[in-house]
Amino acid sequence: MYVSIVLLLVVNSVKSSLDRRHIDIDFNEVFQNGRSLPRFWTSTGLCPPAPRESTADFLLSDDSLLNLEIIGSLPNEGLKYVRIHWLLEMIQFSHYDDNKLLFYDFTKLDTLLDKLHEFGLYPDFELMGLPSNVSYEKERSHRFAFFWTDLTMQIASRYLHRYGINYVSNWRFESWNEPDLKSYNVLNFTTDEYISYIASLRLGLDAAGRLLANIHLPLRGPAGLFRKQQSHPFCWTIIMMCNEMPHRCPFDVITFHRKGLGVRASDILESELELINKLWTSFPNMTSFRFSNDEADPIVGWSTPREFQSNMKYGSMLVSTVLQHWSAMTNDTFTNLDSISHDNGFLSYHPFEFSQRTLLARFQMNKTQPRHVQYVAKPVYSTLGILANLGSLASETVDLHGNLSYIISYHRKPFYACAVLCMSNDTFEPLFARMTLNLNFTFLDEHQSQRIGYLVEGLEDGVNDPNALWTYFKKPSYPSKVQFAAMRAIQLPRLLKGPGIVSSENLELEIELRAPWVVTVRLCSKENPVPSRITYMRIRKVNDYEVMIFWSDKSAVAGCIVGYEVWFRTYHTQWRLLNSDFHTPFLFFQFVSNDTIGIKGMYRVRSVDMFGRLGAFSKSNHYEG
Ligand SMILES: *[C@@H]1O[C@H](CO)[C@@H](O)[C@H](O)[C@H]1NC(C)=O
Ligand SMILES: *[C@@H]1O[C@H](CO)[C@@H](O)[C@H](O)[C@H]1NC(C)=O
Ligand SMILES: *[C@@H]1O[C@H](CO)[C@@H](O)[C@H](O)[C@H]1NC(C)=O
Ligand SMILES: *[C@@H]1O[C@H](CO)[C@@H](O)[C@H](O)[C@H]1NC(C)=O
Ligand SMILES: *[C@@H]1O[C@H](CO)[C@@H](O)[C@H](O)[C@H]1NC(C)=O
Ligand SMILES: *[C@@H]1O[C@H](CO)[C@@H](O)[C@H](O)[C@H]1NC(C)=O
Ligand SMILES: *[C@@H]1O[C@H](CO)[C@@H](O)[C@H](O)[C@H]1NC(C)=O
Ligand SMILES: *[C@@H]1O[C@H](CO)[C@@H](O)[C@H](O)[C@H]1NC(C)=O
Ligand SMILES: *[C@@H]1O[C@H](CO)[C@@H](O)[C@H](O)[C@H]1NC(C)=O
Repeated sequence: MYVSIVLLLVVNSVKSSLDRRHIDIDFNEVFQNGRSLPRFWTSTGLCPPAPRESTADFLLSDDSLLNLEIIGSLPNEGLKYVRIHWLLEMIQFSHYDDNKLLFYDFTKLDTLLDKLHEFGLYPDFELMGLPSNVSYEKERSHRFAFFWTDLTMQIASRYLHRYGINYVSNWRFESWNEPDLKSYNVLNFTTDEYISYIASLRLGLDAAGRLLANIHLPLRGPAGLFRKQQSHPFCWTIIMMCNEMPHRCPFDVITFHRKGLGVRASDILESELELINKLWTSFPNMTSFRFSNDEADPIVGWSTPREFQSNMKYGSMLVSTVLQHWSAMTNDTFTNLDSISHDNGFLSYHPFEFSQRTLLARFQMNKTQPRHVQYVAKPVYSTLGILANLGSLASETVDLHGNLSYIISYHRKPFYACAVLCMSNDTFEPLFARMTLNLNFTFLDEHQSQRIGYLVEGLEDGVNDPNALWTYFKKPSYPSKVQFAAMRAIQLPRLLKGPGIVSSENLELEIELRAPWVVTVRLCSKENPVPSRITYMRIRKVNDYEVMIFWSDKSAVAGCIVGYEVWFRTYHTQWRLLNSDFHTPFLFFQFVSNDTIGIKGMYRVRSVDMFGRLGAFSKSNHYEG
């Protein structure tokens, strides 16, 4: 009910000028131009709030853990890495042994990393901060290099043993964030110390790798801002050294930070290219390295509230950012880009629930006993879920006039394709608020003998806009059950067409959209395997009558899945499908029960693909509250 009221409000408030666009997509052409598409955009990041000494309290808080679990619940590792500052503050110095070796208590860090592992996330482990209670002055003056080498080795070997080589060798170890800034250089490294610190990290990782099966653990850095050389000596000096002796450079990937000006997505790439070209000109050997912009955000200052960060503008800007980087990677402008990260894993706070640079809107429900937290997904989170379905090969980004761009990804055998289309006028209002998009896919002979399913999902301004709804409700600090339900009903991608079966050599689709928008068309051959059994279901209590249900899906081609069914029974009732009214394309569902039914009982989940094929039910999970 609320949803339709607000839709009208939003739609009427903008000019209803209409645009019509037609796009032909011919798989013959797509297959000829395909190249390997690395998943370079699947990283987020965050910084625990000051003081750094309370990093553990923050990261292990209920609010933070639930935020991370939701981040880990996009399909297909839609967000895989979380880059977190000050992790070393979670370690506690314990004692020296008779040989003056340092012993640490890793309990708190273990707890966090166990959680990340459980949530299917990988840390971008910044070796940054100081274990609490360590006699740093003493270590620094007597054996600075040993201290850092030993600490790094202890960390890496501990977690290689704890989680295994497969998982830990996929972590991203990184050096200290923005080391040239006074606010981060809290140990007052001198340039010599900084260089020694970096070399020690490398030695520590090498030592840990040698202990276990002789593996190489990559190191990323210097996570630098690379402003003027005089004021940012650390990152420039280390690059100079890498240039002189590229084979002895401690870094496997060079990381830097470049954000936009808060106006256009293209500001980010332009600013990166300006830096990269300067670097390559002065340091020609660096052209052989891979680079990563760890903080590729539209503008600095995560906590500054900005209107565009609360709605589809940010979502579509993020898609533009990804598509523009893909262009640069394929048109020889920036072929050695390793990855970009979005620094948007923060927790928003009152009264800026939606408008800070975050993936989720956080509502701290202070008036309940005990207090609890409610999250609503912002469009930017859901756009990352759309990008998650991109296949492993893709054609170049196509940019059409009027801010329409798209990418076609696929695997050829068995056939799967995912087109992502985006209409973004950056932070500006679109010229045409509404449009009709006509798509015409042309298949090949090899497809004629197959059954091909299709599905269209979208995120649109005004429609997928929980913030507009919240604003319409007059921004309550503590939204009611009904208000949360209304916001959640529109937080995820909406099914616009299908699932259906392609019935001729063409698939013609007509889609009505409100700009800015992001649309995905997924095509899946029935030759793809049936969905797998859902694994690893988890039930998290929100309050006395609400739980969040999370699960994992190891299906071979996640993109063929339409969504998930969540079933529940109390010990006295029959199994009941909880989410028949919702499209559930991501790996979680929030169940709002009532006092009569409650939340205690059994839960199970299964997936449904485009052909209506059902995956096996997960094991039933007994939940006792
Ligand atoms: C920190 O070190 C001091 C002195 O070495 C000791 O008294 C104190 O108990 C230590 N604190 C913790 C939390 O280990
Ligand atoms: C670094 O320098 C600041 C200011 O000069 C000082 O307050 C701080 O204690 C120093 N930190 C360390 C670890 O020496
Ligand atoms: C580039 O690296 C080579 C070694 O691979 C080295 O001989 C050469 O001096 C380096 N160039 C510069 C400009 O430092
Ligand atoms: C390559 O793509 C980027 C991003 O879209 C663009 O800025 C650049 O002009 C393109 N370069 C060429 C040579 O086409
Ligand atoms: C939108 O179009 C304007 C004008 O051509 C261009 O400057 C801008 O980069 C475009 N933005 C996107 C996201 O395509
Ligand atoms: C984008 O916004 C600019 C500035 O308001 C406007 O001039 C332009 O027409 C818009 N373009 C599109 C495609 O919406
Ligand atoms: C779609 O493309 C096919 C050719 O591949 C063409 O025959 C058909 O007319 C097109 N449909 C539309 C609506 O343009
Ligand atoms: C709820 O409590 C937190 C922590 O004490 C506080 O920062 C926040 O502003 C409170 N929220 C509201 C709506 O008052
Ligand atoms: C509680 O939920 C059940 C199941 O949806 C429903 O049948 C029942 O009417 C609800 N009870 C109340 C008091 O709302």
